[in-house]
Amino acid sequence: MGFWKSLFSGSDTTPSSKPTAVEGYIAEDENSLPTEAPRDPSLSSSAARSRSSSRIFFSTDRDIDLYELEELCDAVGWSRRPLRKVKKAIQHSFLVVTMWEQRGVQRRLIGFARATSDHAFNATLWDVVVHPDFQGKGFGKALMKHVIKKLRSEDISNITLFADPQVVNFYQNLGFMADPEGIKGMFWYPD
Ligand SMILES: CC(C)(COP(=O)(O)OP(=O)(O)OC[C@H]1O[C@@H](n2cnc3c(N)ncnc32)[C@H](O)[C@@H]1OP(=O)(O)O)[C@@H](O)C(=O)NCCC(=O)NCCS
Repeated sequence: MGFWKSLFSGSDTTPSSKPTAVEGYIAEDENSLPTEAPRDPSLSSSAARSRSSSRIFFSTDRDIDLYELEELCDAVGWSRRPLRKVKKAIQHSFLVVTMWEQRGVQRRLIGFARATSDHAFNATLWDVVVHPDFQGKGFGKALMKHVIKKLRSEDISNITLFADPQVVNFYQNLGFMADPEGIKGMFWYPD
C-alpha cells in the first residue's frame, strides 16, 4: 500500500543530483538561449569543439514538423506510424517536449518526449528519444529531467512509463522503479 500512498502524498520524488555539464549547457527554453555555449573543461575536446558553435534548447511548442519527427524516430529504428495519428497523439498529449540543436539560423530536432495525463495525479511518458548523434552525452538525462520538472510543476506526482528492455537501466538511473511493490504493468491487445 505504501507505493500507492506515496503517489498521493505530493512529495517530490525526483532524484536530486548535481546538474551535469551538458545540463548547464542546455537552455531551459527557446526564449532563454545562451548567447554562447559554455566551454566546460570537463567536456572532451571533440565534444567541446562540436558544441562550441551550437546551442541546445528545449521547447514545449507542439507545432512540430511531423516529417522531422519521423526522421528522428527512423534514426533510432522505430517502426513508422501513420502521421495523422502521430499528429493526433501530439495534439492530445498533456506535455510535449522537444530538444533542438541550433547552429546559426538552422534548427535540428535532436530529442523528443511526450506525456499523457489525467491533469491531476498521473502522467505517462511516451516516445522518449534522442538522436543517435547526440546519445551518450547526457542529453537523454537532461530531457527526462526537464520533462519531470515540467510535470512536477503541474503537481503531477505519479509518473509512469513503459521501458524497452534495453533502456530499463537508463530509467532506473533517473529514479524510476520497475514493479514497485510487485505492481505489474498489464496490457491488452486485439487478437
Ligand atoms: C534511451 C535514450 C533516450 C538515452 O539517451 P542518451 O542521451 O543516450 O542518454 P544519456 O547520455 O543522457 O545517459 C544518461 C545515463 O543513462 C545511461 N544510459 C544511457 N542509455 C542507456 C541504456 N540504453 N541502458 C542503460 N543505461 C543507459 C548513461 O550511461 C548515463 O549514465 P550516467 O548518468 O551514469 O553517466 C537514447 O539512447 C535513445 O533515444 N534510445 C533510442 C530510443 C529508445 O529506446 N527510447 C526509449 C524507449 S522506452
